[in-house]
This record gives sequence, structure tokens and C-alpha cells, in this order.
Amino acid sequence: MRILFIGDVVGSNGRDMVKTHLQSLKRNFSPSVTIINGENAAHGKGITEKIYREFLELGAQAVTLGNHAWDKKEIFEFIDNAKYLVRPANYPEGTPGNGLVFLNFNDVEIAVINLQGRTFLPAIDCPFKKADELIKIAKKRTNIIFVDFHAEATSEKIAMGWYLDGRVTAVVGTHTHVQTADERVLPEGTAFITDVGMTGPYDGVLGVTKEAVLKKFLTNLPVRFEVDEGRGQLSGVIIELDKNSGRAKSIKRIQINDDHQALLS
Ligand SMILES: [Fe+2]
Repeated sequence: MRILFIGDVVGSNGRDMVKTHLQSLKRNFSPSVTIINGENAAHGKGITEKIYREFLELGAQAVTLGNHAWDKKEIFEFIDNAKYLVRPANYPEGTPGNGLVFLNFNDVEIAVINLQGRTFLPAIDCPFKKADELIKIAKKRTNIIFVDFHAEATSEKIAMGWYLDGRVTAVVGTHTHVQTADERVLPEGTAFITDVGMTGPYDGVLGVTKEAVLKKFLTNLPVRFEVDEGRGQLSGVIIELDKNSGRAKSIKRIQINDDHQALLS
């Protein structure tokens, strides 16, 4: 059984990359479920209901979020009815939406958890303790638990990998937009990567036009950041797992851009 995960989709550039490549990725890797991080999907910040539904129509079974989850005001109107939209679970009690969602593939359940780091990001509830709580709930139904840990610091993401090793199928890092080359299955059977990387502009700076970011660095004056419209890239991982134990067997990186074609490891 396999899980395909596509890293942070940025703006229409990223959405076009998903449209262009998702079907062939599915043909090549035959994932049982596909999960997309969509927190930057609406012009770089947040997600709309239309884009969420478009991801499901394109063949994703769940869409995870992160620190930009709330940037499009309409999220508050549709998140409670968006069954397969997963927001960071460690927001305070009473926050709309869900941080744990169950998917179904041929009568096998897959739990999807989204957590947000606290290092260099807002001080929300502890993601480690929230993970303990949600794993307890998920384990009553399934051994297959997928965690998207949306965090800034590599140390926090690596620490989470170790913390959850043997308790979940995968911990994949998102948010920093540059794919790391440290993918592996940890000793107790959890697939891990510090960051999956982004899906969107290949020639900008983390998705934003290089001109705007350079102006910011060179002048330190306020600059309006726009999503770059040039060449695109797609970043993801494919995780193979044992459907009974939930243990990961392998994790492989995917990169599609003008310098790389698909599978990297
Ligand atoms: Fe983010």
C-alpha cells in the first residue's frame, strides 16, 4: 500500500503543476491515497473552497494546511463542512475544523494528522503532546497514521520524527518549501523527511518573485510579495507501507522540474 504526498502547493502555478502531473504520478506509483498540502494554494496564502474541491476532483483524498490556514476569510465559512480538509490540530480548543481526519481505501482506514511547529511560528499548543493525544484516538481505528508536521525549524521536525518513530507510519515536514535529502525509514518503522519541498514556481524565492524578495533584502523597505508566474516544479514523496502493521517500508522523494524528472531515490 502506498501514500503519495504532494508538498506545499503555491498559487495557480502550483495548482497547474498538480493538474499537469498528478495523473501520471498516480499511474506510475499507484498510490492508495493522495494527500496534498494546500495551505499556500490560493495566491500563496490560504485556501478557498473552490480550490479545496478542485484538489479532491483532481484525485486527492485529503488536503492538509499550516500557518496560512486562516488567511482567506472564507475558510471560516466552509472548514466545518470540508470533511477532508485537515488543519493544524494543536490550535486551541474550539478552533473550527479538524486536525485528524480518517480516509478509507478498500475498507482500510488511514488517519491523517496535521500539526504545526512552535519554533519561529506562533506559540500555539504543544504539537508533541497533541500528537500523543491524537495517536491514541487514531490507534483505536487504524495502525496507518500519516502526519504532516508543518514547521519552520529543521530541529523541531527531526525531533518530531524521533518522538513518533514506531507510533505512526510517516512524519513528513512541510512549510520551508525546499526539499531536504534526508528521507529514510527510522529504526522503528516511521518514514521521515524534514521537508517535502514545494509545488509551484521554480525560479522565484520559495514561491515569490525573486525581484520582490531581492528588493526586500537590499532595501529593507515594505515590499508586496507576488507569486512568481514562471517555470513550475512539483515536490512530493511516495511512501510504501505494510497495511496491517502500519509500518513504513520505504520513502522516496519526487521532484519534477526542468532539471529533475520524478523519482530521486
Ligand atoms: Fe507554511
